[in-house]
Amino acid sequence: VPKHYETDLESVLIPNGMIRDRIDRLARNILEECTPHSEITLLCVLKGAYLFFSEMISVLMRLNVDRPNPVRIHVEFVRLSSYANDVSTGHVRILGLNLAGLYGKHLLIIEDIVDTGRSAIALLEELRRTEPASVRFASLLLKKSPHWNGFRPDYVGFIIPDAFLVGYALDYNEHFRDLDHLCILNDEAKAKYQVSLTSNPMAALLMSGQAAAVAGVPSSS
Ligand code: PRP
Ligand code: MN
Ligand code: MG
Repeated sequence: VPKHYETDLESVLIPNGMIRDRIDRLARNILEECTPHSEITLLCVLKGAYLFFSEMISVLMRLNVDRPNPVRIHVEFVRLSSYANDVSTGHVRILGLNLAGLYGKHLLIIEDIVDTGRSAIALLEELRRTEPASVRFASLLLKKSPHWNGFRPDYVGFIIPDAFLVGYALDYNEHFRDLDHLCILNDEAKAKYQVSLTSNPMAALLMSGQAAAVAGVPSSS
């Protein structure tokens, strides 16, 4: 753990090496179940999934070299955002989804974490506007959250306890994405990097995605 983060962390939950070992395993499972199609489109859910996605695609590329029937891989990206501090606002903003590019494709959604499951369901709903050939969902983490809506990904790296995690691209108000291990944030750090949604109404609006509506601009969705 880098020195500047030491005092902010309760503990390391999953070290980087263990994350990468698990992704190697997941990638093998994914390729085994891919054989009928010769093409797959990985849809990376930004920002939290960028490291999981990049590690996953590196492993898939490496495995493909030795395969008698390699799988062609395409990539797409979408930005989903719904958190303020450590709570889901319940409003999932979806930006930059290339619906036309997903038509008829075998999709594999790449997420870092399923917590309440709201982001996952919102994205799957949005994907119904196009007609993918198939949709599967890989999440590095599935949290045992009391707010879980029951959405179960097809591939899960680790099932984790109900604690707020940062690192390996997961953030707390945009901090800690550059931490290589998955760590539990302590209460002092939560307070230190907290964004006040009452004293900063604009931040609250932006985070909940309602700014455009409030400003009188018609919502794009
Ligand atoms: C986080 C996380 C998942 C989602 C999971 O994203 O990366 O995408 O929330 O939570 P849920 O199951 O309760 O919906 P966030 O909105 O923080 O955006 P980010 O990926 O840019 O950090
Ligand atoms: Mn996310
Ligand atoms: Mg986040």
